[in-house]
Amino acid sequence: MQILHSPEEVQKTTREWGGTVALVPTMGALHAGHLSLVEAAQSLADRVVVSIFVNPLQFGPTEDLDKYPRTLEQDASLLGELNVDLLFAPQAAEFYPQGFSTKVSVSGLTASLCGASRPGHFEGVTTVCLKLFQVSNADFAVFGEKDFQQLRVIEQMVDDLNLPVKIIRGAIVRETDGLAMSSRNRYLTAEQRRSAGRVPEAVAAVRRLGADAHVSDVLECARGILGEIEIDYLEVCSEADLRPEAASTALSKIPSPHFFLAVKIGQTRLIDNTPLHGVTP
Ligand code: PAF
Repeated sequence: MQILHSPEEVQKTTREWGGTVALVPTMGALHAGHLSLVEAAQSLADRVVVSIFVNPLQFGPTEDLDKYPRTLEQDASLLGELNVDLLFAPQAAEFYPQGFSTKVSVSGLTASLCGASRPGHFEGVTTVCLKLFQVSNADFAVFGEKDFQQLRVIEQMVDDLNLPVKIIRGAIVRETDGLAMSSRNRYLTAEQRRSAGRVPEAVAAVRRLGADAHVSDVLECARGILGEIEIDYLEVCSEADLRPEAASTALSKIPSPHFFLAVKIGQTRLIDNTPLHGVTP
């Protein structure tokens, strides 16, 4: 596996490869969820690029940029074992040199959910992803469904800007108790980790509600299971527009209804989501 830090070198290398390229953009601290995206990428394209970059643009001033886990050596050895072709690990000062002044912003889909709780976050994500697509010459880019809003925002950007990259969705990978894998799970103390088990419990319970349920049933069900856990948001939205639906709306009236949740356990923010139609519990 080649490891490169310079965007120019990656752009040159991937251009010279010929054949198709699949990109898996990550912020490192890799877990089995990321590795499943790498496997999906390998099944799609001739070559696979994984990027590891803790992108300062997508962190708010009071968020965890400084303490975000950075485990490049370990990550590189995992990716090497998987026979990834290229690991791109830029330095912030080189990826965003002095004078960098462009931002990509998707409206609408970013107004709700994490977009409302984390102002500027999705601008940071779309800006870095557009750069990563350009640098890697990606034909495919694979994103996990755990960050479902992120995935929808990227899909919108790719459509709107006619980017020559196909976005591929990777299913959520869960721990044995159902907690969605996340690099931030490692922040949790043992006790917090136990209460985090309520998050997938809530997700599983709302999936079991029938299509005759209303949004209010979903929200009450989730609230009941989360108990004392601090809720950032609980919403049901249509997958198409991610606009929160009113409590009185029947799920059957929502095209592709999807449940979204964000909670805070101690200082750690956890998110999860699930479709509410056509799901077998
Ligand atoms: O999902 C992530 O890890 C990040 O938001 C991404 C897509 C790598 C952009 O920095």
